[in-house]
Amino acid sequence: MIEFRDVTFRYPGSDIDVLRNLSFRIPGKGVTAMMGANGSGKSTSALLMNGILTPASGVVEVDSVPTTEWNPQSDLRRLVGVVFQDPNLQFTSMTVEREIAFGLENAKIPFDLMRGSVEEFLGRFDLSGIRDQSPASLSGGEKQRVALASVAVSCPHYLVLDEATTLLSPRARRKLLADAIAEAGSRESALVLITQFPDEALLADHVVIIGNGAVVLQGGPEVLAASAAELIRLGVPVSLRDRLIADEY
Ligand SMILES: Nc1ncnc2c1ncn2[C@@H]1O[C@H](COP(=O)(O)OP(=O)(O)OP(=O)(O)O)[C@@H](O)[C@H]1O
Ligand SMILES: [Mg+2]
Repeated sequence: MIEFRDVTFRYPGSDIDVLRNLSFRIPGKGVTAMMGANGSGKSTSALLMNGILTPASGVVEVDSVPTTEWNPQSDLRRLVGVVFQDPNLQFTSMTVEREIAFGLENAKIPFDLMRGSVEEFLGRFDLSGIRDQSPASLSGGEKQRVALASVAVSCPHYLVLDEATTLLSPRARRKLLADAIAEAGSRESALVLITQFPDEALLADHVVIIGNGAVVLQGGPEVLAASAAELIRLGVPVSLRDRLIADEY
């Protein structure tokens, strides 16, 4: 489980708390969706989950250990893998194959074992045919599959997609989601979908809505329909159907 307890955070040089006494839990299994208006602190929360950022006050625990106490920190980064909205910021290698191997090289995995894993993940994410291409030359959907594969190859227990499907075509979006859900499901690990798409949130077992740096709602996906009017007020995207229902009140 990932647990945020009374987390407050502000960026260096800023005088505004981005997160204010934020408390929520992400179960160690199943799909959790996180939604909130632009600037509500979703990406900041993702970076707190894998220890890239640390709280000013309060605590973020991963499997009952505060992120600040994970030693080495690289163990935490492998346990909580984050795929970001813009894959170009994530790429460091000249070929797809090297990009996928990169995460494992850092983890000092023996070469033979690494080759096997890279082959397996190239196959699993339909990347074998483009293994020698530069990640920069690929389509948006292919880029995100490479980004997902290069995070998934370390077998993180928590796989976090931070609006990773936002820039994709509907077809590429569906494929990436299906791949991520299958990947997490096959290892009984947890998938966190940070999303602005209500239809993605409906795939989740657990939904967390943040507004103004604090949790405003959490529960099953039914909270989305039940609270549509409140969500519209907070600037959280809701489905057209829910919007119509809310308008009737
Ligand atoms: N590096 C930074 N330095 C200073 N302020 C930042 C930085 N990154 C984000 N912020 C501010 O922190 C707040 C929360 O940003 P964050 O990116 O976590 O929101 P978000 O919910 O992910 O938004 P979006 O839906 O646009 O992705 C915003 O007001 C943003 O301007
Ligand atoms: Mg964001």
